[in-house]
Amino acid sequence: MRSYLPEFLKPEALQHYIPIMDSLAKEHLETDWFPHKEVKVFPLTRKYTFALACRLFMNIKDPDHVTKFGNPFSLVTAGLISIPINFPGTAFSRAIKGGKLIREELLSIVRKREMELSENKGSTQVDLLTRILLIRDENDRGMEEKDIANKIIGFFIASHDTASTAITFVLNYLAEFPRVYSEVLKEQMQIAESKGPDELLNWDDIKNMKYTWNVACEAMRLAPPGQGAFREVTSEFTYAGFTIPKGWKGCS
Ligand code: HEM
Repeated sequence: MRSYLPEFLKPEALQHYIPIMDSLAKEHLETDWFPHKEVKVFPLTRKYTFALACRLFMNIKDPDHVTKFGNPFSLVTAGLISIPINFPGTAFSRAIKGGKLIREELLSIVRKREMELSENKGSTQVDLLTRILLIRDENDRGMEEKDIANKIIGFFIASHDTASTAITFVLNYLAEFPRVYSEVLKEQMQIAESKGPDELLNWDDIKNMKYTWNVACEAMRLAPPGQGAFREVTSEFTYAGFTIPKGWKGCS
């Protein structure tokens, strides 16, 4: 992961994602928020961050393709933390079925991109998928297709569930604290008024969102979107005088 992820997530790369995030957010608000008097925030922020991940990881733009891919994904996330008994009708069993569908879909996307790369055509944008496909080991061998699919699934889970939880809690706290809401609104309006009608947000605008960013950080401090992950010690080590033996399991 260390050979391709920093390139994808380094600050210079993140700056290019800002206009894409902004235009997708506008589309999302127009289609899924504005027509309704009341909305359920979490499912909608999940929809938004999923579409964003499809776009930034694999350059998938077609909403139908995003939905086709997203439906089985919801089954996987719903069964991620569940009793691991593969019995029909359980969340775990549905998650396994969803996982199978996603892998099949991902494999066809990976193969299509491999072909485009070998023919030197297709998107010129170097997204996460292309970066992973271009990795070579010391024997000049690329990663296996099924490993690529598994990696991409991991990134989807790591990124879209956390980001949508963070956005949901920000909105929840804004609703709870009207004074904070009006400060955020003031800062956002100042930035919006400094832009042309169709001009998208850029890195400088994000840097000017100082109060908003503090609110997002505070929301993540109060309600951390990632509670941790399960770990297993692969070799014995000593930390602060405590020896942790190989095979110990815990939650970080
Ligand atoms: C609000 C957003 C996010 C939060 C709160 C968050 C939180 C976390 C946390 C707490 C971990 C450590 C888990 C552990 O080891 O115990 C983690 C790992 C990770 N996150 Fe995020 N994350 C966010 C967004 C993202 C995004 C957008 C990506 C993009 C691809 C991402 C990719 C990863 C990866 C690959 C790891 C595993 C790193 C490793 O094991 O070396 N995360 N994240």
